[in-house]
Amino acid sequence: MSNDHVAAHDLTVRTTGDHETPRVTTPVTLSVRPHRLDGGDTLDGTSMPTSGPLIDRYGRIHRDLRISITDRCNLRCVYCMSEDMVFQPREELLTFDELVRVARVARDLGVTSMRLTGGEPLVRRGVVDLVARLGELGVEDLALTTNATRLAPLAVPLKAAGLTRVNISCDSLRVDRFASIRRRGDLTTVLRAMDEAESAGLAPLKVNVVLLRGINDDEILDFARFARTTGRIVRFIEFMPLDAPGQWDRDRLVAGRDVWATVNAVWPLEPVDEPGRVAPAERFRFVDGVGEIGLISTVTQPFCGTCDRLRLTSDGSIRNCLFSDDEHALRDLLRTGCDDDAIQLVLRRAVWNKFPGHAINETDFLRPHRSMSMIGG
Ligand code: GTP
Ligand code: 5AD
Ligand code: SF4
Repeated sequence: MSNDHVAAHDLTVRTTGDHETPRVTTPVTLSVRPHRLDGGDTLDGTSMPTSGPLIDRYGRIHRDLRISITDRCNLRCVYCMSEDMVFQPREELLTFDELVRVARVARDLGVTSMRLTGGEPLVRRGVVDLVARLGELGVEDLALTTNATRLAPLAVPLKAAGLTRVNISCDSLRVDRFASIRRRGDLTTVLRAMDEAESAGLAPLKVNVVLLRGINDDEILDFARFARTTGRIVRFIEFMPLDAPGQWDRDRLVAGRDVWATVNAVWPLEPVDEPGRVAPAERFRFVDGVGEIGLISTVTQPFCGTCDRLRLTSDGSIRNCLFSDDEHALRDLLRTGCDDDAIQLVLRRAVWNKFPGHAINETDFLRPHRSMSMIGG
């Protein structure tokens, strides 16, 4: 198999024969085993609070809302989608009025940072207007995660509308390989969009790289050099069991600690300490002072203990974890004229019910029913 030709079925690691991808046993940190409690009951007998910030049973306060505005995408990355994805009918998506209303209620409950995701958020018409409306809510951080194929002409209008920053997915710096991992789109457009985003003042600019063993893991140092020469923060992401084709294989993921060792051997790294910061990425700067990388090691080093995120899916459900099917539907409520208190209650319940950890590393882990693009990365 050539590294430069990636087809969806190639994601399954072959275990016999003369494959050139060695089987690798990745040590993992065991996550806390999840369990389900119903309604307002707690482990220690207290009830779900009905005032104050969004808090769960384990004391985690939730301040970050990820808003998926569409499950559609113009690419078909092999680690995310199958070629024949079926998308939701448009009438099932929340309208902008509905989205903004939920966001406002979340802000009133202490959410200070919001991120638009998809699918690909920039394929939804009117996204600049939506950003402007969310910008009026006055949250500290209003960001967007994008594949950047449509970003270049929108960078200036998005910034003007109140967007603070963008995270851009880019899994290869080689033209052919980029095209085969993402199946559509092209590297040049994405690199140009990065320049446009920077010129527009969308900063800091982060670049998301999902590493797949045997496919693009030979580019770790190229991406580290890219971080050093451009000043963009490159984040290496472990492949998660959220791909629509269901081909996730532990042997395909590249552990964050292996990425660290590879980079550190050439350009020594030191951790960037940020007391109190909660984010999936562990940050490292180059000791010689030029640039930074991040490691998102969801599988091998879960960050669940400090997770402060909740998600609004494009069809209007609140989801408290990428890996839990525990969803709290809002759309019908919104469409039957509920008051804000009812929305607050759904948000509070969703957070209160959150599991302590994602359990990917448990033997009886079950993949969530929805894949990444349907949940909102
Ligand atoms: P920053 O706020 O810039 O740190 O962004 P981010 O890393 O939270 O967001 P982004 O959309 O760029 O996501 C990068 C990777 O982190 C993606 O693969 C996401 O699926 C993953 N990620 C985002 N949120 C969570 C989460 O709550 N849990 C886990 N395990 N992974 C997450
Ligand atoms: N594992 C890890 N990251 C993924 N993404 C999409 N699918 C997966 C997966 N199976 C990433 C995208 C994007 C972000 C929203 O999620 O590359 O950067
Ligand atoms: Fe689209 Fe992002 Fe999924 Fe790639 S990872 S197919 S760009 S939603």
